[in-house]
Formats: sequence, structure tokens, C-alpha cells
Amino acid sequence: MNSLEHLTREVETIIDSELTVNEKLRAICNLLRARVSRYDWVGFYLVDKTKLNELLLGPFDGEPTEHARIPFGKGICGQAAHRRKTIVAQDISQESNYLSCSPNVKSEMVVPIFKNGIVVGELDIDSHTLSAFTSEDESVLQRICEIISRIL
Ligand code: SME
Repeated sequence: MNSLEHLTREVETIIDSELTVNEKLRAICNLLRARVSRYDWVGFYLVDKTKLNELLLGPFDGEPTEHARIPFGKGICGQAAHRRKTIVAQDISQESNYLSCSPNVKSEMVVPIFKNGIVVGELDIDSHTLSAFTSEDESVLQRICEIISRIL
């Protein structure tokens, strides 16, 4: 088992623990950021239950961000929620619909989390490395988001 696959097992252990939902999400952010050096900011955005076309910042690990609320369609996060698809921006300088959090960020991946076919949140990862994300990152993070969906 390689290290990314191993992460999936560790996420399952966190999900099955006695922690609260927010504590679990935060523990998953800490785990991913600590274990993958290319991941410089790891966080969750959750769909606002009172305003279903907006995302609210949830637990995260990394620098604070001014983007606490993001409408569907805006930025990489809003596009992933609107298109219901994982978005990998290997070079954010090429993105016209982008919300900057830090000048150090070079690439970003956003993976939607589905519950009964509906987007309920997403996992957002920023990297200070250009083209930081492989197809293996994508498939492992999608699997991790399927597991997280159980508690949302
Ligand atoms: N860059 C994101 C905004 C969220 S921050 O990366 C934490 C975007 O374009 O949607």
C-alpha cells in the first residue's frame, strides 16, 4: 500500500472515531497537510443549509483566508460546486475565475462531496508548487470525499 492509499485508511479511522463532525473534518485537514508536503492549505467548504447556492468555510489547516463565503460559480471552489466536478488548476495564473487566498499559491484542487447525489460540500487543497497534483491525488481524494460524505 502506498502512502496516499494509506491515508484513506487513516481517514476511515477518524470518521469512525468518537469526535464531533467538525473535529473529524479538522483532523482530516491536519492529517492531509502533515502527510503530503505538496499540500500547503487543506480545508472544507460546506454548502450553507439556509442559502443552498453558497459555500461556507468549514474546518481548515493553513493560513487564514478572507474567502469565508463563496457563491456557487465563483472561483475554483464555486465552479466545482456548480459543475459538480473535481477541478484541478495546475497553474492558477492561467485561471480567469479565481479567488486568491495567498500570493504563494501556485496550484489548487477542489473535490466536491456528494450526499445522495447532491453537493453538500467540498475539499479544497492549495499548493505552493506548480502542477502539484497527480491523477493519483485526484482518485485518492475523491475516495476520501466519498468516505467523508457518510458524516455530512
Ligand atoms: N482559491 C479558491 C478560494 C478558496 S482559497 O483557496 C482557500 C477559489 O478560487 O475558489
